[in-house]
Amino acid sequence: MGEPDVDALGIDLAPGRATGAGADELERAAEAALRPRSLDEFVGQRVVRDQLSLVLDAAVGRGAPPDHVLLSGPPGLGKTTLAMIIAAELATSLRVTSGPAIQHAGDLAAVLSSLDEGEVLFIDEIHRLARPAEELLYVAMEDFRVDIIVGKGAGASAIPLSLPRFTVVGATTRAGLLPAPLRDRFGFTGHLDFYSAEELERVLVRSARLLGADLAPDAAVEIAGRSRGTPRIANRLLRRVRDWAQVRGDGSLDLQAAHAALDVYQVDALGLDRLDRAVLTALCTRFGGGPVGLTTLAVTVGEEPETVETVAEPYLVREGLVGRTPRGRVATPAAWQHLGLTPPAEASTLFS
Ligand SMILES: Nc1ncnc2c1ncn2[C@@H]1O[C@H](COP(=O)(O)OP(=O)(O)OP(=O)(O)O)[C@@H](O)[C@H]1O
Ligand SMILES: [Mg+2]
Repeated sequence: MGEPDVDALGIDLAPGRATGAGADELERAAEAALRPRSLDEFVGQRVVRDQLSLVLDAAVGRGAPPDHVLLSGPPGLGKTTLAMIIAAELATSLRVTSGPAIQHAGDLAAVLSSLDEGEVLFIDEIHRLARPAEELLYVAMEDFRVDIIVGKGAGASAIPLSLPRFTVVGATTRAGLLPAPLRDRFGFTGHLDFYSAEELERVLVRSARLLGADLAPDAAVEIAGRSRGTPRIANRLLRRVRDWAQVRGDGSLDLQAAHAALDVYQVDALGLDRLDRAVLTALCTRFGGGPVGLTTLAVTVGEEPETVETVAEPYLVREGLVGRTPRGRVATPAAWQHLGLTPPAEASTLFS
């Protein structure tokens, strides 16, 4: 047996799955192999990278843990990757938990009281922490203390337990949902934005090298342009192109293989995924281009409003396909054009 092939785990992907921004368990294994391990390897996001490197270097220089760090941005842009890099740059270990995994304040108290000096505690989806846990976290982050409640009812008492200095790295796709007191306890907030095509090309070149694949430059350009500004999607499409080259091509990852694979997986010219297209189509064909409220739009495509708002909308807005107005979401002329539809005469007046 040779080296285990991480991508062997990714073959279950159904056609439509080639573009969604989220990752499932199987994909996470494939991703782990491609994750940058240091800030220097981390492509793009120059502003966040610069700021973070200052925070980390200063902390290392002082020999003390840095301020707590909050990372926000749409799925697949590198929040978990950065959390791992932070721990690596600080030469400490990373403890991982998530908002939904913490049901009770006691669960969080147990995690906190087991931390060692200087460790990094990564709390993914931190906006989904339950309120009592959130309140416990405020105190822990600020005073490095948890109050352990002993007993019940009137006889209950709180025994303060002091904690070692540690650093919380919180990740969220919805920074706006974090209550202000929690947000304020982060000394540094980094907002990750969609990557440019050129940055995604660099991600692809790096990933191809790690996969031992020879990616033609024009193929990299093609894949980057259809990756929805998202490294996770770029890496996924690269693996699909590699599959195509291996099974139907001559093994080379050239432009022809890229075109053919992207066709098989029905990745459209802008790299929109199924949810993106469903939202656009509903907006144009069911609601005549809007304006329509977020909740109505979400019900029409069978998704939670939160998913539409955090997963599909940011990219559609950034690509100039959807606009947000006080009366609801509207399709832009570019949206009609992208779907190959003719906008009704009044659609253009929404933007005049
Ligand atoms: N700046 C980058 N340079 C190179 N690769 C990257 C970069 N950012 C992300 N990636 C790749 O994209 C994959 C997804 O990134 P990551 O898991 O960090 O996203 P995330 O923001 O945590 O997403 P989610 O919100 O779904 O948890 C990683 O496996 C990594 O290989
Ligand atoms: Mg993540």
